[in-house]
Amino acid sequence: MPSAPVSKVNRLTVRDDFNDLRAVVHYTKAAHRLGLWASERILIERFFPDQQAHLLEAGCGAGRVSVALAEAGYTRLHAFDFAEELLAQAQSLALEREAKITLFHADATRLTKCHVIRDTVFDGALFMFNGLMQIPLRRNRRRALRQLVAVCRPGAPLLFTTHDRDDSPAERALWRLEAARWAKGKQDPILREFGDRYYEEDGVGRTFMHLPVRAEILADLKATGWTHAFDAMRRQIAVESRAVRDFSDECRFWVAHRRG
Ligand SMILES: C[S@@+](CC[C@H](N)C(=O)[O-])C[C@H]1O[C@@H](n2cnc3c(N)ncnc32)[C@H](O)[C@@H]1O
Repeated sequence: MPSAPVSKVNRLTVRDDFNDLRAVVHYTKAAHRLGLWASERILIERFFPDQQAHLLEAGCGAGRVSVALAEAGYTRLHAFDFAEELLAQAQSLALEREAKITLFHADATRLTKCHVIRDTVFDGALFMFNGLMQIPLRRNRRRALRQLVAVCRPGAPLLFTTHDRDDSPAERALWRLEAARWAKGKQDPILREFGDRYYEEDGVGRTFMHLPVRAEILADLKATGWTHAFDAMRRQIAVESRAVRDFSDECRFWVAHRRG
């Protein structure tokens, strides 16, 4: 008998994984205990110096970044996530810490449909800790980048992170093996594109992640209305604490400005 077709990872798979109790506990602990990474703090101070600016955080999770920004003195914060359970945790934390943030439910690929931000033009946007890369399919990631363009003023900075599958010889060797699998059609059938991973981690649950190369992100920014301003691996920006390194692996930071 032919085997049943495998369903591919989609936005609902990713949303369900982030609503899973294991993920909720993991990101909520980080929001309560970790706050901003040293590298995030350095880049936010450099590219978002105006604490009165209207800022939008996409994929805010349990509020780790937005609550820390409010505590650092940022006064006009909006933040959204499509995982209801994480958003509820962000709302509780904001209440507990008296952090003034407009938190709302939205999907980054459908942001302009959201009435909460209909009349707001943002001076900057953030999509931290690889959230953009957790959107399956490159066309959808580009759609999210275009949606952020649509709600930001010309010149507005966008800060986000990705992995970089070219970062080390070991990773390049692993991806060469994966490329051979794709060439033979023997890749995990749940994946959508070369560079995707879908894996289980103790204490986090299932995670979908697209790992790009640098040229891919440069092309995506160019195609969606963003001008590249900066990128560097995290280790080149700051030495992170053990707690931050336990929570998150190495990543590439990106800053782009909305074209006018
Ligand atoms: C790795 S978590 C990071 C959470 C938080 N920013 C942090 O740094 O702790 C990525 C977040 O992006 C959110 N996310 C992924 N795809 C999204 C989408 N299409 N729309 C809105 N949020 C999304 C997830 O629900 C999750 O909260």
